[in-house]
Amino acid sequence: MTKLYIEGGRRLTGEIELQGSKNSALPLLAASMLIDGATLLHNCPDLSDVRAAIRILQSLGYKCKQVNNDVFIGDNMPSCDTVSPELMREMRSSSLFLGAILARCGSATITAPGGCELGPRPIDMHLKAISELGFSVKERGGYITCKRQFSPKNVDITLDFPSVGATENVILASCLSKSVVLLRNAAKEPEIADLADFLNKAGAKIRGAGTDRIEIIGVNRLTSIEHTVIPDRIVAATYMSAAAVTSGEIEIRNVNIEHIRRIINSFSEMGCDIVFCENTLRIRAPQRLNRIKTTRSTVYPGFPTDAGPLLVASLVKASGTSTFVETIFENRFNYIDELRRFGADIKVYNRVAVVEGVRQLHGAQVCCTDLRGGAAAIVVALASDGVSVIDKICHVERGYEKIEEKLSGVYANIKKE
Ligand code: UD1
Repeated sequence: MTKLYIEGGRRLTGEIELQGSKNSALPLLAASMLIDGATLLHNCPDLSDVRAAIRILQSLGYKCKQVNNDVFIGDNMPSCDTVSPELMREMRSSSLFLGAILARCGSATITAPGGCELGPRPIDMHLKAISELGFSVKERGGYITCKRQFSPKNVDITLDFPSVGATENVILASCLSKSVVLLRNAAKEPEIADLADFLNKAGAKIRGAGTDRIEIIGVNRLTSIEHTVIPDRIVAATYMSAAAVTSGEIEIRNVNIEHIRRIINSFSEMGCDIVFCENTLRIRAPQRLNRIKTTRSTVYPGFPTDAGPLLVASLVKASGTSTFVETIFENRFNYIDELRRFGADIKVYNRVAVVEGVRQLHGAQVCCTDLRGGAAAIVVALASDGVSVIDKICHVERGYEKIEEKLSGVYANIKKE
């Protein structure tokens, strides 16, 4: 099992080049199935989740090649409509392949993605929307099988909640159909807009992505496409958090400022000085961070659930008490037990975390409980005196490209073994 050794207490300074977004790259890889021709993705982060998505594409008969941050997907047709349970389990976002396979084959079999470290991750909203698009949905023995029954001319779908995954699945399942689909209460996250940009460049007709009302007019075919994945807003929050807890000063390049406005507000409230110019952001943290007003995770453009652990990590040495409320995932606070090992004073009441800032933290042996919780542990280790050992960093490697190299580059004392 790979571990990170971090000697904390150093002020981080320097520049970091931000990676491409995992949460954009994964739906784009699924969307590449819809293209009649080749797909070339630039700025695709080199991550275990991306490699898992590539293995799913290969199992469906696609030729894929990854060279550094470029991924090439060949001009193939799927050779089957089924993703094996083993491949489904490898990655949480594998359910996105449902919409893509249905668009190409008219039928699909996947297994339920099941629970994960953030609590149950149901796909009932995805399946309800898929059935409204004219597919039958059968669930048996853990398998989910969908088949096209008819092609409705006009479909009007309203999601019960603006689910990111369900919105992506509806877009994928609709854009090669014979239907005109109106999706209401759609998710507005930047990753949805990136998916629509990608598909529109290839010839799709999707309007309104990035708002809560998306219209998809089915087309006959999509053609070859080259696309650059948007920057990762949650990884940006992670490096901002690393600068904040170490009283550091970091310049992050290749940021989309529009995507992180709400995150910037929180770091400004903590007393960080933040300036940006085009796609570069510079954050300079004070000697001690301020407490912040109660913050809740919510849908975009609100505070992202994925950045919650990084906000909590930033507050552990702030002056005073801050409260963070998690409203999206029920088991998101598993990582807090690990943060307490550094001496952090955090109490959890159901979905509320109350962080009492302390003056000093000490090195600890901790485990990554999940992707962002693991990143939060790394951030707190950077702010703790002495050596920390972070175990199970495979969780972090699902979403962070070369995190130890990026942090070493800003003078963190960090080693992977
Ligand atoms: C979520 C985040 C997204 C983040 C991603 C990766 C939100 C709204 N979504 O997307 O920003 O990038 O995790 O960590 O912040 N739900 C159902 N039934 C469904 C689908 C969802 O009950 O069919 C529930 C989920 O359990 C959860 C909520 O709706 O409580 C949000 O789900 P959704 O947006 O679909 O999650 P992801 O697509 O994983």
